[in-house]
Amino acid sequence: MNKEQLGQEFHKQFHCDFECIFFAPGRINLIGEHTDYNGGHVFPCSITYGTYALTRRRQDNFVKLYSMNFPQKGKIEFDLDSLEYDEKHDWANYPKGMLSFIKEKGYELSRGFDVLFYGNIPNGAGLSSSASIEMVTAILIDHLFRLNIPRIELVKIGQRVENDFIGVKSGIMDQFAIGMGKKEFGILLDCQTLNYEYAPIELKEHRIIIMNTNKRRELANSKYNERRSECEEALAHFKKVLPIRSLGELTVDQFDYYQHVLKSNTLKNRARHAVYENHRTLKALQALKGKDLKTFGQLMSESHLSLKHDYEVTGKELDALVEAAWLQDGVVGARMTGAGFGGCAIAIVEVENVSSFIERVGEKYEKEIGYSAEFYVASIGDGARDITNEVRV
Ligand code: GLA
Repeated sequence: MNKEQLGQEFHKQFHCDFECIFFAPGRINLIGEHTDYNGGHVFPCSITYGTYALTRRRQDNFVKLYSMNFPQKGKIEFDLDSLEYDEKHDWANYPKGMLSFIKEKGYELSRGFDVLFYGNIPNGAGLSSSASIEMVTAILIDHLFRLNIPRIELVKIGQRVENDFIGVKSGIMDQFAIGMGKKEFGILLDCQTLNYEYAPIELKEHRIIIMNTNKRRELANSKYNERRSECEEALAHFKKVLPIRSLGELTVDQFDYYQHVLKSNTLKNRARHAVYENHRTLKALQALKGKDLKTFGQLMSESHLSLKHDYEVTGKELDALVEAAWLQDGVVGARMTGAGFGGCAIAIVEVENVSSFIERVGEKYEKEIGYSAEFYVASIGDGARDITNEVRV
């Protein structure tokens, strides 16, 4: 889909030309899973797949939204004075939530507008299509109303929409990666302080392959919220013996020494993952800086095992993909990425092995699971931005 085709679609829907066009990517997380809401570190990057939003200001107070990904839902309309959650509005609750919370912060939204959305992130794949819609809406509103809201503020509002408007108690990783992403760089983010650093991803003769299980992420949100509350419970027990604010503050030795305060094995397993994964993420950054891709890959694989056995968020589809990936020539590491319970995994693979990798992992997966997986070569792109004057989109 190019700019011209998107422009034509805008015209067809709204009977006028668009004024500006914005883009927000999706994301993959290299390592540091389920650590963000535990005050630990994550290491995501934004990809070149994402969501486009074309817009034009209106004279009245109405907002009209249309998504080319959900044509059956038609145009969704509301006015700027009725911004509450509405189940009927389905996907449009993400942009609506952004409007609602930006307005609630005291920013003035003076008149309505039309938006056409188009996303090329594979559907339901756990590559953060919802945070992508939130962040593309965030920069669109910021631009249309000349609000000059700091980017980090928009990132935080995006997370709040997910937590308090949609009801998924997610951390800040997705909105941060999408809002702050940088071409060819990963972002090491400390989710407790929001200090971050960009680290170049120089893979030279390797590629990052995204492997989509094509599994529907049923119950993913309720299981996600359940993991989060298990971690909160574990933290409450540790707080009785240690002056900490989050599991991310525990060292591995402290965890090993004090884990007896957790009475159930489930809580021990969940907290062990959160603590060890946080430290793996820091080690992975050091490995990358030292150009030690082998260690980086090993840490990715350890991360997957911990998510499988201790955190229990992988499931047979993600395990089948990752375990098949580990067996292939030229693979330095593979793991699930994102929340889990279906969605995508990633693998770092030598360029010359990429096609045989895709073929063999694909075959093995289909045989075991009964339907096929999909594979994409990932490119690390820039974060959310105005692309009105970019020639190629
Ligand atoms: C989802 C959430 C993130 C993060 C990951 C797991 O993507 O939105 O905040 O918790 O799962 O690492």
